[in-house]
Amino acid sequence: MSTYGYFDDPSREFVITRPDTPLPWLNYLGQDDFFGLCTQTAGGYSFWKDARMRRITRYRYNNNPMDNDGRFLYVKQGKSVWNPGWKPVRTKLDAFECRHGLGYTRITSRKDGIEVGQLMFIPPDENLEVWKVSVRNRARRTQRLTLFSFVEFCFYEALNDMTNYQRTYSIGEVEIEGSAIYHKTEYRERRNHYALFGCTRRIDGYDTSRDAFVGVHHGLHDPQAVLAGKCSNSRAYGWNPCGAHQINLTLKPGQEETFAFILAYVDQGDLPKFDAPFVLNKTRGREILAKYSDLATIDAAFAAVRERWESLLSAYQSPDAPDQHLRRMVNTWNQVQCMATFNLSRSTSGYETGIGRGMGYRDSNQDILGFVHLLPDRARQRILDIASTQLSDGTCFHQYQPLTKKGNADIGGGFNDDPLWLILSTCAYIRETGDTTILEAPCGYADKPGSTDSLLHHIETSITYTLNNRGPHGLPLIGHADWNDCLNLNCFSKEPNESFQTVGDIAGSKAESVMIAGLFLYVARDLAALYRFLGSETDATRVNANYADMLKTVEEQAWDGAWYTRAFDAAGNPVGSKVCEEGKVYIESQAWCVLGGAGQANGRAKKALQAVEKFLYRRDLGCALQYPPYSTYRLELGEVSSYPPGYKENAGVFSHNNTWIHIGWTLFGDGDRALEYYLSICPSAKKDHDVYRSEPYVYAQMTASQFSPTPGEAKNSWLTGTGAWSFVVASQFILGVQPDFSGLRIDPCVPKKWKSFTVQRRYRGVTYTIEVKNPRGRSKGIKSLVVDGVKIDDNVIPLPTDGRTAVRVEAVLGR
Ligand code: BGC
Ligand code: NOJ
Repeated sequence: MSTYGYFDDPSREFVITRPDTPLPWLNYLGQDDFFGLCTQTAGGYSFWKDARMRRITRYRYNNNPMDNDGRFLYVKQGKSVWNPGWKPVRTKLDAFECRHGLGYTRITSRKDGIEVGQLMFIPPDENLEVWKVSVRNRARRTQRLTLFSFVEFCFYEALNDMTNYQRTYSIGEVEIEGSAIYHKTEYRERRNHYALFGCTRRIDGYDTSRDAFVGVHHGLHDPQAVLAGKCSNSRAYGWNPCGAHQINLTLKPGQEETFAFILAYVDQGDLPKFDAPFVLNKTRGREILAKYSDLATIDAAFAAVRERWESLLSAYQSPDAPDQHLRRMVNTWNQVQCMATFNLSRSTSGYETGIGRGMGYRDSNQDILGFVHLLPDRARQRILDIASTQLSDGTCFHQYQPLTKKGNADIGGGFNDDPLWLILSTCAYIRETGDTTILEAPCGYADKPGSTDSLLHHIETSITYTLNNRGPHGLPLIGHADWNDCLNLNCFSKEPNESFQTVGDIAGSKAESVMIAGLFLYVARDLAALYRFLGSETDATRVNANYADMLKTVEEQAWDGAWYTRAFDAAGNPVGSKVCEEGKVYIESQAWCVLGGAGQANGRAKKALQAVEKFLYRRDLGCALQYPPYSTYRLELGEVSSYPPGYKENAGVFSHNNTWIHIGWTLFGDGDRALEYYLSICPSAKKDHDVYRSEPYVYAQMTASQFSPTPGEAKNSWLTGTGAWSFVVASQFILGVQPDFSGLRIDPCVPKKWKSFTVQRRYRGVTYTIEVKNPRGRSKGIKSLVVDGVKIDDNVIPLPTDGRTAVRVEAVLGR
């Protein structure tokens, strides 16, 4: 238990025990089309599908106080005014608890004998959120109070909403019917949807004008309607529409009242838009409110959220993995983070404003690695969507918008690692499902409208692209950047008003990336294995030859003496080499050369990992991205040298690339190191939350490193590729249950002192219960594998051919 909260593992909840956490601690609601961000003080906002184009409620990023917009309830009792979530009023509460669970957040608080519970969730497959509210009188006397709800509506397009007031102040429109507030801005013109904020209980008043409820010279911490104890039944004409309900309660000792607020996004579909001029046709809205008018439906919807998560998570559980941090991450929180990164890529979090970035080509491909076991069909669709944003010459749009699925022209392409990640995601999908038909699925190219080229065609295009775009050392050209977005070797920007990512001229450039070469090695092996599985020996042989060729180049050109060079800049000088003054050793080239099988025959792979340990690793922090950090801006390197030392790509601990090193140690059978490294960045294992500051239940993109003035301070939580990769590390490489083309491969790599553990894995319709025993205190290597009583020679479990849906496996470590 820390100062701020604790894990309630059996309930799969993180319990926050005081509201003033070091930073807002966020949770996500929803996993279909309607999403909400929700912090421990009920801060956050909601949107439908796309946080930029369909934002339903407002949120002011980088505000002070931070995280001061949300799903607020106010209690006015006598003179005192308070929020169950503490903010925005910040009245001291007698008790506070926030439980972030899977797809829901429940806040329970007490003040002066009144207890309020606020449970927020989004029912499966619905475009709405529910706040179930209970108010209980815990005092011995009858108490009267007034409860207010409050949301501020957004005019859907979030950027316009926060910049174009000359227009937006005149467009706001609402209607009120019973307890329901209809937000219908722009509905008269081109929109076919509206928002709805209703209440299951009879109300005693409402406001729809923010100026009326809050007051022009007041704030959310002292809204004038709440201070006055009543709403004024205002109707918004322009300015800022809001939704506020007033509920007067008189509660006897012990009495409880329960009701709910419903916030919905309503698509009008084919229905006529209006009942009369200026009167919207509310049929759909009324249906929604009728459906959720009774508490039994609401409770059933909440039960459905929980059941859905339990069923998803049952695809991978290790109830007795000996390390509690790894256990809770694998069983619960890491999988939850994988759902969020899959759904939202890097678009919307406490740090991503939902306006800048859509879905990332490399990001979304990697997100699939940690998600595909949960909902393989959705992964399949995503792979095809991503592939459709590739161009026929092999380059890719770096990002695309989720609503249109079209590539984002502002950022364009030219990030030369992008094409290869598609091979990783596709192979992961086939290893999980065995469904090779995806390879034949038509997905076309972004520059050839109507083309129906297959996914396999895209994969071959990606391989060819990398092979054909190599520099003077025979290594792949980097383009604008590779995985390290900030290694901009063709940028040469002297202007502060340019984007490092897009400004450089990459045509004809010589700058090369060793990381892409390593990644190529890895995907070539994956692809050759796929071709062998498909029975295409010729193709497997061809790809193997490409592999051998690239391997030779890497070994001849990229070994720096004690580690792999990171890149060659546009002038042909090495980056990440002993000859460099700063930035001598980088993490990514060590990781990918090792993962791609370089340095196996000649001992370099081990040396590369040892270099990481020596120069970059700290047990309490993880591995910094490179060493030594750049102390000055370097024109020839770009954004990487723009950050102050120890932050972000300039030698911060970038969690994502750490995970590849973890895999590296498992390849060497070093289970003790693998777990130690795994724990070095594991949020659950962070001890001092005043230093770490971010959520203890999900990974953050970056932790300030030993080279910074604030080591150990994490930033940019939730939406990071670390989510997927950490799950791959723990589930496949430490616990060792690896989906392969023809079945599950069992190959754990654990600390020597681990005696035994179990994994339950649902895979291609079969539930495997895998018990791993370690009587000889080994880390890696299968001595025996017994499948339903039958000893088998290989470590890949054959798929049952007799219709069995449950299989028991006993594995013993030690060779
Ligand atoms: C960040 C990177 C990010 C890139 C693209 C940079 O400023 O440091 O982590 O990937 O921007 O948005
Ligand atoms: C965050 C980006 O989303 C990701 O694509 C990139 O690989 C990392 N930053 C590292 O620069």
